[in-house]
Amino acid sequence: SVMREVAGINQMEKELEKKLQIKRVIIVAGDSDHSPWLKKELGLATANCMKSLLKGNNIIAVNGGTTMAAVAEMLTPNIVDGEWLFVPARGGIGEDVKNQANTICSMMADRTASKHRVLYAPDEVSKEMYKSIVKDARINEVLQLIKSASLLIHGIGDAITMAERRSTSASDLEKIVQAEAVGEAFGYYFNEDGEVVHKVQTIGLRLENLSTVPNVIAVAGGSSKSKAISAYLKKAPPSTILITDEGAAKNLI
Ligand code: BG6
Repeated sequence: SVMREVAGINQMEKELEKKLQIKRVIIVAGDSDHSPWLKKELGLATANCMKSLLKGNNIIAVNGGTTMAAVAEMLTPNIVDGEWLFVPARGGIGEDVKNQANTICSMMADRTASKHRVLYAPDEVSKEMYKSIVKDARINEVLQLIKSASLLIHGIGDAITMAERRSTSASDLEKIVQAEAVGEAFGYYFNEDGEVVHKVQTIGLRLENLSTVPNVIAVAGGSSKSKAISAYLKKAPPSTILITDEGAAKNLI
């Protein structure tokens, strides 16, 4: 029955919170690998979660990806209490424009009648470029805003899928494969033990700053992402809220 299903999911959420040692786990029924529309359910759960977490004025840092795009689609003005400002968490990591954080921030701002900022920075930057680019006033302003974000929402990807989706060089791809990376989040690649084995050199939020962000929502579903989710969560701050689906959750238990 529906009631038993709900009870089963609640039970799984509690078990996973304990096992993964994070603040909350929210599971939507189904597996987004098999039902692509389920990403919208993840989006809806995320919108509700944002509404209950955030009061007053907030700066929200956002990543790219198709899951974040689905979250953007499900946002509505009535979830906002106060004023929100969306900022991209990291430089536009070599993805299709519709999947880039800049685009998603602008969509989220449109859908909630809020404001957003653009990070005018390339995906991968050299050390030299990094040094000069952070001095640019417009870029620096956005970097400061990212640092004062009260919420970060991000996706988690399968390592190889993400490396292939980005314009990763052959040598970096080799490095990622050799190091047995399984998961990826905001440009960091993780092995099964949650160790960072590669990172895309770009500007914006760093893994070591994550613990200072008061609220973090990771949204990722589909059984094919379970290894990636479990790898990344070994490093994630304990304040993390995971929004996932049954397909991924079953493999995480
Ligand atoms: C990328 C993010 O844009 O999207 C990554 O930078 C994330 O951190 C990835 O892993 C997830 O993409 P998707 O399409 O599976 O939601």
